[in-house]
Amino acid sequence: MKIIIVGATGTIGKVVSSELGKRHEIIKAASKSGDVKVDITSSSSIKDLFKHVGKFDALISATGTAAFGPFYSLTEDDFYKGIKSKMMGQINLVMIGKDFINDNGSFTLTSGILWKDPIKNGAGLSFVNGALNSFGISAAVELQKGIRINVVSPGLVEDSAATLGAAFPGQIPVSMHRVAQGYVRSVEGFSTGQVIEIL
Ligand SMILES: NC(=O)c1ccc[n+]([C@@H]2O[C@H](COP(=O)([O-])OP(=O)(O)OC[C@H]3O[C@@H](n4cnc5c(N)ncnc54)[C@H](OP(=O)(O)O)[C@@H]3O)[C@@H](O)[C@H]2O)c1
Repeated sequence: MKIIIVGATGTIGKVVSSELGKRHEIIKAASKSGDVKVDITSSSSIKDLFKHVGKFDALISATGTAAFGPFYSLTEDDFYKGIKSKMMGQINLVMIGKDFINDNGSFTLTSGILWKDPIKNGAGLSFVNGALNSFGISAAVELQKGIRINVVSPGLVEDSAATLGAAFPGQIPVSMHRVAQGYVRSVEGFSTGQVIEIL
């Protein structure tokens, strides 16, 4: 399969690229490095990505940011950061990518455990994760030509534990092997409209 991985140079994207790269052609995309550059906050940049890469069989998105900070300090603009990047960025990869993906292809987006297991300072991110899960569940109902969509929702991953662990008290980091297998399940498996929780 020809697989585009957006965020391929990141903590999660790296291990997913390495695992799927054993069996498939991987196009690594990110905003500053990789095989192709894309900024998911810009729909014209996303269009350029697909025009450049052409037809593909699967797209994985392991990217997107959102505001992190105390609930009482969050501004409207803070919420829009997550909407613009992690939420609409990933949704636009699907809405624009659906015109370029091959029949029977798949989209895999990334949300995260905070949609249902909140932490302090996480409201600006949690709501985006919930929206992405709902988008995946509902888009699957209408996607045609055998095209599937799933959303991977990992817990705190092992390779981020040193930097982010303090914000997730008591959460046991998920091994990078388990994280990678969640994406493998979405791309090489048969399910659609699933929130694939990796806990
Ligand atoms: N790490 C965790 O424990 C964890 C747990 C659950 C969910 N998640 C979610 O998983 C996703 C990936 O997390 P991560 O920890 O792997 O992030 P990361 O290490 O910060 O990597 C982010 C990746 O996205 C790329 N990127 C950043 N901004 C971009 C943009 N505007 N357009 C296109 N690419 C962009 C980065 O490369 P460039 O800098 O070159 O653009 C990099 O490849 C995020 O949505 C995160 O919320 C993470």
